Amino acid sequence: MAEKRDIWSSRTAFILATIGSAVGLGNVWRFPYIAYKYGGGAFLIPFFVAIFVAGIPLLILEYYLGQSTQKGAPEALSKIGKNWEILGWFAIFIGFIIVTYYSVIMGWAFSYIGKTFSIGKISNFETFFNNDFLHLSKGITTIGGINLPIFIGLVLTWISMILIIFKGAKSVGKVVMITVPLPFLILIAFALRGITLEGAANGLNLYLTPDFSALLKVDTWLAAFGQVFFSFSIGFGVMIAYASFKRKKSDIINNAFITGLTDGLTAFIAGFAVFSVLGYLALSKGLPVGDVVKSGPGLAFIVFPQIITKLPFAQFFFFLFFIMLLTLGIDSAFSLVEAFVTGISDKLKWAKVTIITIFSGIGFVMGIIYTTDGGMYWLDAVDYFFSTYGLVIVGLLEAVAIGWFYDTENARNYMNDVSDFKIGKWWNYMVKFVIPVVLIVLLAVNTVNLIKNGYGGYPRYILILTGPIFLILGVIFAIIMKSIKSSR
Ligand code: PHE
Repeated sequence: MAEKRDIWSSRTAFILATIGSAVGLGNVWRFPYIAYKYGGGAFLIPFFVAIFVAGIPLLILEYYLGQSTQKGAPEALSKIGKNWEILGWFAIFIGFIIVTYYSVIMGWAFSYIGKTFSIGKISNFETFFNNDFLHLSKGITTIGGINLPIFIGLVLTWISMILIIFKGAKSVGKVVMITVPLPFLILIAFALRGITLEGAANGLNLYLTPDFSALLKVDTWLAAFGQVFFSFSIGFGVMIAYASFKRKKSDIINNAFITGLTDGLTAFIAGFAVFSVLGYLALSKGLPVGDVVKSGPGLAFIVFPQIITKLPFAQFFFFLFFIMLLTLGIDSAFSLVEAFVTGISDKLKWAKVTIITIFSGIGFVMGIIYTTDGGMYWLDAVDYFFSTYGLVIVGLLEAVAIGWFYDTENARNYMNDVSDFKIGKWWNYMVKFVIPVVLIVLLAVNTVNLIKNGYGGYPRYILILTGPIFLILGVIFAIIMKSIKSSR
């Protein structure tokens, strides 16, 4: 990389890029199914609490780290203490694992677009998605063959990502001028159509009625924090990398609020669309809303087409929706690649082309498992572990690093100096005490439950393979990267 780092062309470009990274499949694909899985109204309170307790404070923290050091995650963290660099590499590793399946969901969308002209023939999108599209096998241990249309979708996704990222931060700024506002408008339109469907009210009741008894369930809380981290793109090194392309004296706090609140709001709106359709389906099938759709990660691919068939020009909207999903996903996906590239090129000074080629090649190959008949189960297991454990551990350690091994007051003063408005001492307390304590308790209790009950009915050895073993690999990768001498 040239000695001079890329710099965002304007504040708007930075805000749009961070919103572009944050708002993604996480809002439209992941949030609705996770909310549904944990009972709708039972999930919403933990979700909003997680936004304010950890999401926004950590977003502020990551912007601070990137901006004040002008470095990607590993080097930025190494300014706190040499060994913290490991955390930066670990975060990047987690991002890498996530992009391997994130790109597959985008591959689903690509491949769905190819179905535009046949949607008139589909009467039940759930059976269509599971049987005709995924060829879903009977369980995680039955892998079956690769699904060619999904595989091709995956190839197309990687090609698009690589093309965009080659252009660097400047072009990211341009792409997001379109990819950010457009999906927002489409989602609002869908939510409006959704809530006028017959039966929608029942779905919305499930979504919006708080279930206080569920607040005692640790797994719901951990899922909520995991969802917020995933959705805010924190714990991946992405936001640190993006903030490292900012000028040292530019606003941090306001930007973090803008991005965080836009992200939360988008998910909330997507929830209206999804839950109203669930209400509609429940009515037509005569089932309780909580039971209508069984497919976890497939929810968006089942429910949105259902609204679409209720619209005039259904084929047009079907096409538009999946294009939107792609535009939503693409800026998130390449932000992940960008984090990795920034980290490595800061350290090794390799050419960007080399890093992108290696990274995309490995990422693509690792994604192939998710294109098989058993792929959705693998995706579910890996996603569960990485977006809860992986991200939550990084978020926790970031808070500990800044809270206990660095001067929070110093950080706060810096940010207050450069930002549109100031944050109070509450931020210090969040970072130092609240976030670490809450996350440690959640992780500990959940681990006990996980050991007792497993997850998703998958065999233990698979859970160990897709979870702890993978995480350990991440730690090894991080240690190796840290021990490599920076070539400068
Ligand atoms: N935040 C993105 C989403 O919600 C996912 C993502 C995570 C993207 C991390 C980049 C980095 O879809």
